[in-house]
Amino acid sequence: MKILLLGSGGREHALAWKIAQSEKVEKLFIAPGNAGTMLVGENVAIKADDFEAIEAFVGENGIDMVVVGPEDPLVKGIYDYFQEHCPAVPVIGPSKAGAVLEGSKDFAKAFMQRHNIPTAAYQTFDGTQVEEGCKFLETLKAPYVLKADGLCAGKGVLILDTLEEAQRELREMLGGMFGNASSRVVIEEFLSGIECSVFVLTDGDNYKILPEAKDYKRIGEGDTGLNTGGMGSVSPVPFATKEWMQKVEDEIIRPTVEGLKAEGIVYKGFIFFGLINCDGQPKVIEYNCRMGDPETESVMLRLKSDIVDLFEGVAAGNLAERTIEFDERAAVCVMCVSGGYPQAYGKGFAITGAEVEGSVVFHAGTAMKDGQLVTSGGRVIAVSSYGKDKAEALAKSMRGAEQIQFEKKYFRRDIGQDL
Ligand code: AMP
Ligand code: GLY
Repeated sequence: MKILLLGSGGREHALAWKIAQSEKVEKLFIAPGNAGTMLVGENVAIKADDFEAIEAFVGENGIDMVVVGPEDPLVKGIYDYFQEHCPAVPVIGPSKAGAVLEGSKDFAKAFMQRHNIPTAAYQTFDGTQVEEGCKFLETLKAPYVLKADGLCAGKGVLILDTLEEAQRELREMLGGMFGNASSRVVIEEFLSGIECSVFVLTDGDNYKILPEAKDYKRIGEGDTGLNTGGMGSVSPVPFATKEWMQKVEDEIIRPTVEGLKAEGIVYKGFIFFGLINCDGQPKVIEYNCRMGDPETESVMLRLKSDIVDLFEGVAAGNLAERTIEFDERAAVCVMCVSGGYPQAYGKGFAITGAEVEGSVVFHAGTAMKDGQLVTSGGRVIAVSSYGKDKAEALAKSMRGAEQIQFEKKYFRRDIGQDL
């Protein structure tokens, strides 16, 4: 079959790498892709949210399936667009109504409340309720968690130490700090614990649980400094024991899939559960309607089964008949970023040494310019490795990260070591 994968980051290179291994795949296209996806398929110069151009490409090239990497096209309704214009070609990803689980924090919280899914207590306020919001903050204890309702490219969550700061930020958010995305703000109870990302692939009735992972969001070692898109990931996560995962399945995953179905929300794709372990009790911090980045860069190493077989199960609605197997080894991904990131950074630096023996290299912000591999983003390139344990996997990925050269390269050396 012919598959078109949408997106251009490290997550998409990892998905493309895994898809390309399937014997079922005759040809893989990636739109728009990066310099890494080119190594496992053919890049197409179409933006991931240009639905009309995607539809035309699908028609002209006899594409059998569209797999969506990032949230943007999903939240904009690519699933529904294809249902209307091109119903014979399945899209792996939720409908627009399903993507609201990520697109609106308030919707996600209310959904969890309706289905008794463990999460932080909360209330939502709009621009007419600034004073009520400030009063609600007075009833909570520090630190205070404020979340813009809409998509903010990962910047919409503020955690404040004092009531005064929280009230000031609430006024700013409701006053338009993130534009429309913060016209409503969710204020929620602060949860303390270690986070874990759990991924599920669902056909709307049944689901398969993928290997779990933990990502490292801060720029500095010891999880210090500014938030980033993710500096690395590790799978498995030691506290995600069989018993803990059973709780996650019984109290979170199954009620979510059944809740979506009961509410008539079409969902045929990945669900990303951002969880926190509160003294043994898993709680949902957030839902995403896609895979995580850079979690995918370690999760794909640990997925033994043919991912295209699973996608076919999603499309056909018979996922229950497919099998999913994990690799027992540990996987660690180390992300090399451009100096300055997540603030201002340079682009266009030449990259050398990007082929690393004994590891898998996933490109994120890379491009080919006049035959030379160059940086084109803040998160540039990820090195993922297997190990008998996470220490061995980390050591291999760090060796790779050292070997790859570009001006002002930076990476963390502590991925997975706190667990
Ligand atoms: P989100 O975009 O909802 O994932 O939030 C971004 C990050 O903020 C999460 O990954 C957590 O580290 C943190 N966070 C969000 N909500 C809470 C909460 N209720 N308690 C503690 N930390 C939180
Ligand atoms: N690694 C977190 C995310 O993809 O949102």
